Amino acid sequence: MTRPRAPWRLLVVNGPNLNLLGVRETGVYGAVTLAEIEARCRDLAETLGAELAFVQSNHEGSLVDLIQDARGRQDLIIINPAAYTHTSVAIRDALLAVALPVIEIHLSNIHRREPFRHRSFVADIALGQIAGFGPDVYTMAVTAAVRHLQAASGP
Ligand code: DQA
Repeated sequence: MTRPRAPWRLLVVNGPNLNLLGVRETGVYGAVTLAEIEARCRDLAETLGAELAFVQSNHEGSLVDLIQDARGRQDLIIINPAAYTHTSVAIRDALLAVALPVIEIHLSNIHRREPFRHRSFVADIALGQIAGFGPDVYTMAVTAAVRHLQAASGP
């Protein structure tokens, strides 16, 4: 497989209900909207020399399609699968099928919450998981993604 080269192509995938960030359960997820998070990611990506695609869907099949479309078009996927984290074999299989490096993110620390949120169908196939730092997990993941791709591209 050819090694990816700059500019790194990053896809950020957001699962169900994340379109309601800023409105939904603000005590858990905070007041920052998904549009604001996208803007922060775009600014950072530009600074780091990366291209960013940022998508959201409330539908499992649509998320599978978005992940499949990344094949050959993106270098790395950052994903907040939201509730599908804990249920979706289809999203896991799509990530395995495209065989791109994956970083899993969550605004909340899922390991401090209800037991059903402790299980992730993505964690063991991801490079790593970033959780619990609110909207900052997105920019942390963009930074980690670029560092990973730089390291993987060799000297
Ligand atoms: C979430 C955590 C999930 O358990 C939850 O279903 C979400 C958001 C997070 O970002 O903290 O919708 O992925």
